Amino acid sequence: MVSGDFFSNVPEGPDAYILKSVLHDWDDGECGTILRNVRKAIGENTDARLFLIEAVMTEANVWDFSRILDLEMLVNVGGQERTQRGWATLLAASGFELVKVTRAVPPNNILECRPV
Ligand SMILES: C[S@@+](CC[C@H](N)C(=O)[O-])C[C@H]1O[C@@H](n2cnc3c(N)ncnc32)[C@H](O)[C@@H]1O
Repeated sequence: MVSGDFFSNVPEGPDAYILKSVLHDWDDGECGTILRNVRKAIGENTDARLFLIEAVMTEANVWDFSRILDLEMLVNVGGQERTQRGWATLLAASGFELVKVTRAVPPNNILECRPV
């Protein structure tokens, strides 16, 4: 275990990085800073993976518990939940490709992200 501030830098060396229930706390600009720091830490190790464990909102405006969480994140911390397209766009802007989304215990999903 190491302490640190992911807005400054992220430890180099691991083959896998996991951010669980972290990015939904932050807006797109702040998430971009965190993700770029992870991408920088991965460097040339393109076999490394980033796993996000987060909600994935439905695109359609239908009943979805993640939409309640979206409001909660907005009101409490200025964050947000995201659709799969939203995650893919956010990740692409920071050097990752969203390659797989696996349903986990609701509302969580495991988002596998490959450095590009
Ligand atoms: C919503 S909690 C999620 C905690 C845990 N992953 C979970 O799912 O229960 C957000 C986490 O982000 C961490 N965090 C917030 N700001 C941070 C920063 N600048 N650098 C590193 N970690 C930070 C907090 O310490 C907290 O553990």
